[in-house]
This record gives sequence, C-alpha cells and structure tokens, in this order.
Amino acid sequence: MDIKDHIRAIPDFPKKGILFYDISTLLSHPDAWQVAMGRMAKIVGQHRPDILVGIESRGFLVAAPLALKLGCGFVMARKRGKLPGKTVEHEYDLEYGTDAIALQDDALAPGQRVVVLDDLLATGGTLNATIELCKKVGGNVVGAAGIIELTFLNGRSRIDVPFDSLISYD
Ligand code: PRP
Ligand code: MG
Repeated sequence: MDIKDHIRAIPDFPKKGILFYDISTLLSHPDAWQVAMGRMAKIVGQHRPDILVGIESRGFLVAAPLALKLGCGFVMARKRGKLPGKTVEHEYDLEYGTDAIALQDDALAPGQRVVVLDDLLATGGTLNATIELCKKVGGNVVGAAGIIELTFLNGRSRIDVPFDSLISYD
C-alpha cells in the first residue's frame, strides 16, 4: 500500500504559494490508516519507548493510537496556555514572531525513554522546540518520528535525535 495515495495536496493553504499535505483523507480511510499506524509502530517500537509525546494538534492523532498499540504512555505537548497546573514552556521562532509549546512539569519521569511524534516535519521548528522542552523537564528523548517529511526544507538538520518518517516529498 502506498500511503501517498491517501494524502491530498491542497495548493495555497494556509497562504498563497504553500502546498498543504492533508492527512484527513488518510485518517478517514480505515485500511490505509491501519497500515500507516502499523508501519509507524514498527519504527517507533525500535526505540523501546516508555512514553510517546504528541505535538498539538495533528501529532495527537499519531501519538495516541501508537501509545495504545505499543503499550506505552501518551503525553500532550500543547500550545501555550492550554494545560492546567504547573507547566514548563519553550519558545520558538515563527516566520513572524514567536510561539511556545508547553508540557506539565511532571509529565515525564526522569530516565523514561521518550519518543516525540508529529504528523509532518517541515522546517523542524516545532519538533525541535518540543524535543528541547522534553529535555528541560528531564526526559530522555531517544527518537522522533512523523508520517510526512518535506525534505526540501531540511528540517531534519535541526533534529538532534534519530528521526524517521514514512514518506517524503522533495
Ligand atoms: C504543522 C504540522 C507540524 C508543523 C510542522 O502544525 O502539523 O506540527 O506544522 O512545521 P515546522 O516543521 O515548520 O515546525 P500546525 O502548526 O499547522 O498546527 P496543527 O497541527 O494544530 O494543525
Ligand atoms: Mg502540527
């Protein structure tokens, strides 16, 4: 099964000149989604994770089912201001301005093997910030993965842990 057959490319979203790779059509196709999650489970399972961190919002769709499949815990990395209780944040640069990603300060226990997941790697800014944040709260980040990688943006060069993707576009 070619996962690419189930991913839709939508031009000029979220702004003119950007080609948006939409996983909605993969999610809504049960067989293709099963296959994609099966392949992701093989890749991610090799890291022997204790906890999977999913990045809001599309990273949740990847990390939560994989955590169930692999029998590990799931933690939400959310945009600033969304998590209750004590949180730790990490700021990162956007094209215009900055954003911040947050974790609850007790989300990761020291020494736990953590894998960080998202749907797509573009510039790598979001994933890099989340990995840094996981380290800040004491996580042992042993890997990261996504379904899609936009190789022409070279986001992988910003990721300092082993990174895998199922499909890439160049
Ligand atoms: C998209 C995508 C990744 C990120 C990749 O998320 O889901 O999280 O951008 O871009 P980067 O590698 O250049 O950082 P988006 O911020 O659009 O939010 P969403 O997941 O909530 O739709
Ligand atoms: Mg996202």
